[in-house]
Amino acid sequence: MKIGFVQFDPQFGDVEGNIQKAVRLMESVDADLLVLPELAFTGYLFEDRTELEALAEPIPKGRTFREIRKFVMDTGTAVIYGAPEEVKGGVYNSAVAVLPDGGFFIYRKSHLFDREKLLFRPGDTGFFVFEFRGVKLGMIVCYDWVFPEAIRSIALMGAQIVAHPANLVLPYAQRAMVVRSIENHIFTITANRIGVEHRAGLQLRFTGKSQVTAPNGDVLVSAFDDAEAVMTVEINPDEALDKKFTELTDIFEDRRPELYQIIVRKP
Ligand code: ACM
Repeated sequence: MKIGFVQFDPQFGDVEGNIQKAVRLMESVDADLLVLPELAFTGYLFEDRTELEALAEPIPKGRTFREIRKFVMDTGTAVIYGAPEEVKGGVYNSAVAVLPDGGFFIYRKSHLFDREKLLFRPGDTGFFVFEFRGVKLGMIVCYDWVFPEAIRSIALMGAQIVAHPANLVLPYAQRAMVVRSIENHIFTITANRIGVEHRAGLQLRFTGKSQVTAPNGDVLVSAFDDAEAVMTVEINPDEALDKKFTELTDIFEDRRPELYQIIVRKP
């Protein structure tokens, strides 16, 4: 299976231009699965809820979903992208998986970062896995990486690959995702954006360095922090099915959940 990411610099509010740009980049490669950044077509620094609501779209009814689905159906490449999802009375920061069989899945970001808490609803989908070409996939969005419980849950459900659309502004996630790969013996795809946004009285620089990690922690492909990139790599997803470090060492079987109860208690 050939998997990869698209890293680019979405221009705030230019949804149509950003979709065209991403499609051009995606058309330049052959892949089974491509992951795009969080909020890939709208930009990130919304002034307020009114501005966010104006750029959010319902899924699957919205134009963005229809355009991405057209690309998916035309090429047979599955796409996972981030988007503000309009629902009655609010907006979620969502990741959308669009599959060539016409199916789609929506994950709503569980852990909202900083000002996102003023704008978005906290996700209500929880974590889940779905199948694509016989391989189990899961999704998180950006800051969810900080919570190892998130990817652990998805991995325990059988995920072999975790897609991670992101708008990262800190330098830690790429290193953490290597550890997430090793401790769960899974592949991860972090698709981050690049560029700078000056809006809402703030300035954010997005840190790029999108990457694909393997169950042994190898970084299979990695982009620069300031350049557009479409990168893919051929993987054997079955490598993620084997959770044994040694004959008597199985990283899932060896867990002692009774010792970790504090993790699932609210402080
Ligand atoms: C982030 O969660 N967008 C940092």
